[in-house]
Amino acid sequence: MKDILEKIRKEAMERMESAENLDRLNEIRVAYLGKKGELTQVLKSMKDVAKEDRPKVGQMVNDTRAVIEERLEDIRQQIAAKQREAQLAAETIDVTLPAKKMRVGHRHPNTIAQEEVERVFVGMGYEVVEGPEVELDYYNFEALNIPANHPAKDEQDTFYITKDILLRTQTSPVQVRVMEKQKPPIRIIAPGRVFRADEVDATHSPSFHQIEGLVIDKNITLADLKGTLAEFAKEMFGPETKVKFRPHHFPFTEPSAEMDITCFKCGGKGCRMCKGEGWIEILGCGMVHPKVLKMSGIDPEVYSGFAFGIGLERIALLKYEIDDMRLLYENDVRFLNQF
Ligand code: DAH
Repeated sequence: MKDILEKIRKEAMERMESAENLDRLNEIRVAYLGKKGELTQVLKSMKDVAKEDRPKVGQMVNDTRAVIEERLEDIRQQIAAKQREAQLAAETIDVTLPAKKMRVGHRHPNTIAQEEVERVFVGMGYEVVEGPEVELDYYNFEALNIPANHPAKDEQDTFYITKDILLRTQTSPVQVRVMEKQKPPIRIIAPGRVFRADEVDATHSPSFHQIEGLVIDKNITLADLKGTLAEFAKEMFGPETKVKFRPHHFPFTEPSAEMDITCFKCGGKGCRMCKGEGWIEILGCGMVHPKVLKMSGIDPEVYSGFAFGIGLERIALLKYEIDDMRLLYENDVRFLNQF
């Protein structure tokens, strides 16, 4: 009996040592310790053992069982640990790998220029307002002192939705909308998209942007206009920038002017940027026409004001030295990423 048990122990040990996984180990456990396993068979054959030897043999069977069980548990733990290690190795994430680059968008040169203009005027106490792109003929022309047969209407031909509703040709109608609603003092800028029936070329587009400005209060004079716009030019194009006002005509201002700045590239000497002029035109402006004030419900005897209109694309093209306006609308990220 002792030999049989010894043989079982040895065999069980060898098989357990070579078990490569937990399933295999379990099969071995069943084969030796299970209900029909070899050790159980031995116990069953106890009836053939002499009565006085039974306790001793029983003890030997139990010892063998204990030894096998103990070793089985050891090996089970070893295999489990190995499997876990293998799993961890297989699931390793290399945190030193460079992350996938996040491709984020980029502000459009128009937007950058607009925010810059807004920053300057907000700094001077202006409020930023908006008006509709689809506008009434009344606000776009009539209320700005451009009656039905006025030649200025030809210069600003646009897209009509009906006889009375059109795509605005300028941001100036926002002036009227603000004056109708708000009592002076008024200090606003109104950036936005405008439309004209123009052919596309390097300096024209049927859709572009303007920034309108309006100041109405008591005792506003041409000196306020000049001081404000000269300050704006310095903030926008550098502290050395000088301004020049050329008389002009706009139906909704009187007097009217166009403002030039000294070329920020050559400082006024003349270069390719300013086409040899030394000066660059950047906006239209003037003192708000009394008729316009009156039509908007503001008493021109009490209040006066100035207005100006800046071409946003023009500022962006100048500031970033872009020589073709079409580049602004193509949305080619290789172009846009440069600013
Ligand atoms: N609205 C004019 C245009 O589109 C620009 C302009 C000129 C606006 C003079 C003004 C102004 O407010 O005072 O050509």
